Amino acid sequence: MKQTIAFPSGTVDYYFKSKVEELSRICSNRDLILLTDVTIAALYPGLFAGRKHIIIPSGEDAKTAESIKEITKKLLELDATRKSMIVGIGGGVITDITGFVASVYMRGIKFGFVPTTLLAMVDAAIGGKNGVNVGLHKNILGTINQPEFILYDVKFLDTLPTPEWSNGFAEIIKYSCIFDSELFSELEDYDLSFYKTSPEAVAELIATCAGWKNKTVAEDELETGIRKLLNFGHTSGHAIETIYHLPHGQAVAIGMVIACKLSSEINGFSTAGTERLTDLLERYSLPVKYHFSAPHIMEVLKMDKKRNNKNIDFILLSQIGEGYIQSLPLETIEQTLNTCM
Ligand code: GLY
Repeated sequence: MKQTIAFPSGTVDYYFKSKVEELSRICSNRDLILLTDVTIAALYPGLFAGRKHIIIPSGEDAKTAESIKEITKKLLELDATRKSMIVGIGGGVITDITGFVASVYMRGIKFGFVPTTLLAMVDAAIGGKNGVNVGLHKNILGTINQPEFILYDVKFLDTLPTPEWSNGFAEIIKYSCIFDSELFSELEDYDLSFYKTSPEAVAELIATCAGWKNKTVAEDELETGIRKLLNFGHTSGHAIETIYHLPHGQAVAIGMVIACKLSSEINGFSTAGTERLTDLLERYSLPVKYHFSAPHIMEVLKMDKKRNNKNIDFILLSQIGEGYIQSLPLETIEQTLNTCM
């Protein structure tokens, strides 16, 4: 099912409910270079045999400027030119690295994504922001540039470890909290084991979440307004992820609970709403609290690139399914953090 979405910086062809075997047809006559990690290369060797490819280590530690230099050398060895196309096959680290390196190699060449994790399918592959980390500074070097295409094949999820399913559900729950109370209720009706054995339901869920993200990014690609809503749970979540090296979804889950508690203090968001969220997170094997140090979190928040003097734009909920942006003083956040540990 092909759907073309127009963003200010370019159009993207989405191939939902597709098969990776379609790649050759979609990219016909292109000098293709596949970029993947050792995990995907070992699980799906047939995808790479006989095709130009680059394999990098798995994990967030590979998302560095040093990796970009190594990949650039390999692109040169593979004779990549401005007419070549890089296709990232993997999770969010691979889509970020692919988008970034393709955007700067020879001042920019075409690229596409085949996301293989649930998190990448519903979030990381979509939106055009692609970057690498420098030390504790996440995505501090980056670009906003859309891929030519994103090809979805839920078959990859057959080999996805269970904790990675939960990671993806953290983002799915995020969309439901900020945009879609019906989706929230649907998620309450099912659970992880249902979706793990229902590829059609998962493919629907992916298309719904991609729809929400595409609509938001199409309106505000540069994140000057409404796109900030997608940061629900991410402001404190990123700080927790950076300091405690928790998986992204786990950190975002804790961040969403913190955001609900802040919402209660600021706008009277109901305790029942916070309880529904914590129950839902637990249903998808996600944590709802962590014994963190509020001063350490505050130190990282103060480095946040979204900070504006002494305030940070925080995403709060007025009710389940309705997020909004509010600029909050750092002190207010610190006080609430002290009650959340
Ligand atoms: N690539 C993730 C985003 O643009 O939000």
